[in-house]
Amino acid sequence: MKKILHLLLASVPFAFAHHTPLKARQISKALSSDDSEVVAAAWYPSWLGTTVPPESLSWDKYTSMTFAFALTTSDPGAVSMDADSTALLPKFVEQAKSHNVNAMITIGGWTGSQFFSTNVATAANRTIFVKTLTDLVTKYQLDGLDFDWEYPNQAGIGCNAMSPSDSANFLLFLQELKLDPVGSKLIISAAVSITPFTGSDGKPMSDVSAFADSLDWIALMVYDVWGSWSDFVGPNAPLADSCAAANLQQGSVESAVAAWTAAKFPINKIVLGVAAYGHSFNVPKDVAIVNSQLAPYPTFVKSPQPPGEGETANTKTTDSCGVTSGPTGVFSFSGLVTAGFLTSKGTPASNILYRFDNCSQTPYVYNPSTSVEISYDDATSFASKGSFIKEKALKGFAMWHAAGDYKDILLDSISAAIGIDDCST
Ligand SMILES: *[C@@H]1O[C@H](CO)[C@@H](O)[C@H](O)[C@H]1NC(C)=O
Ligand SMILES: *[C@@H]1O[C@H](CO)[C@@H](O)[C@H](O)[C@H]1NC(C)=O
Repeated sequence: MKKILHLLLASVPFAFAHHTPLKARQISKALSSDDSEVVAAAWYPSWLGTTVPPESLSWDKYTSMTFAFALTTSDPGAVSMDADSTALLPKFVEQAKSHNVNAMITIGGWTGSQFFSTNVATAANRTIFVKTLTDLVTKYQLDGLDFDWEYPNQAGIGCNAMSPSDSANFLLFLQELKLDPVGSKLIISAAVSITPFTGSDGKPMSDVSAFADSLDWIALMVYDVWGSWSDFVGPNAPLADSCAAANLQQGSVESAVAAWTAAKFPINKIVLGVAAYGHSFNVPKDVAIVNSQLAPYPTFVKSPQPPGEGETANTKTTDSCGVTSGPTGVFSFSGLVTAGFLTSKGTPASNILYRFDNCSQTPYVYNPSTSVEISYDDATSFASKGSFIKEKALKGFAMWHAAGDYKDILLDSISAAIGIDDCST
């Protein structure tokens, strides 16, 4: 990775030398014991390309931006992107390059991981899949590949091909990619679950150190820990949970970092995935409010699910497994402003109740007139996560997603807490 960055820097005109991404990289020397660079990244939601075009992003505050998604197909010789994504990708890369930000693409995702297992299952398929991805990278002049396989040896969305050999085959595939003349020059990352890759026994592997040799970083997706599928209203993206009651410990940043490092993944290659969004819950007023305050972990009414951003009560979507479901209830941080839960400063609006949970270090808002409660992240929770990244010398952060923030309130908060803005002018 160092090599590619040096190459990249060497090819950049002098005029860009003062840009924040360079400074962000320099500051990482203070952060971690080796000379690797800090990662300030986000995934770019290509399906929002018309409302949030690439040129509208705050490029100077990022070191890497990852285009989402290219989907796996049943043929290792092809990944799939819809026509809009295909048209948008060159514009995305051009913007990234003109701002000296690494342009990456992520493969898979929740809806696009169906065929990872078969694409890496045999030596022949791995070789074809490596060629498919290096051709993609060459065609679009990308700087890196992100693998968002959700998840090896798990059904994921429900219909993924899966095999007990998935994690072992994934490693073989990454090793082959690193040996490829094109692949060896790329930044390679993986978006991962809160527990280490699932081994052949169906349990998290106890030693994932070999993956660190092929990956520049992993991004821990510590979000969707609680949501509409849970028994209580809980934090979408808890920083800690060991301070909560035993039945409320569903995973957190602390436990995820502990699990990955216990499985021998180096902490200085761990990037924290952070959520610029939240989940909505239908909570009757007498359950939500106790002694004039929002109650911790209230129960909620599963149906109807309150519609989220851009949804109505009648919203129906059919996923890649052919399963149709109703509204997700997801709001981006910016969507919470638009929907009137938050002010344009990102603080609770006047008719809205607010609770900041000390253990998870995350906020909740509640609208008593609609009985809708949201668990989400705000500037305070992003600052807590940034402090954790700095304190533990993690490699940085990756935000899902780049269009979710409102006026960079979250981005600026986490960057300041890490110390990235110390160097900006
Ligand atoms: C390898 O890829 C082919 C498609 O080209 C697929 O039919 C086959 O099942 C894959 N092999 C395995 C073992 O999954
Ligand atoms: C939250 O935690 C801090 C630090 O441990 C403590 O000082 C504060 O009193 C706590 N607040 C609440 C409401 O528990």
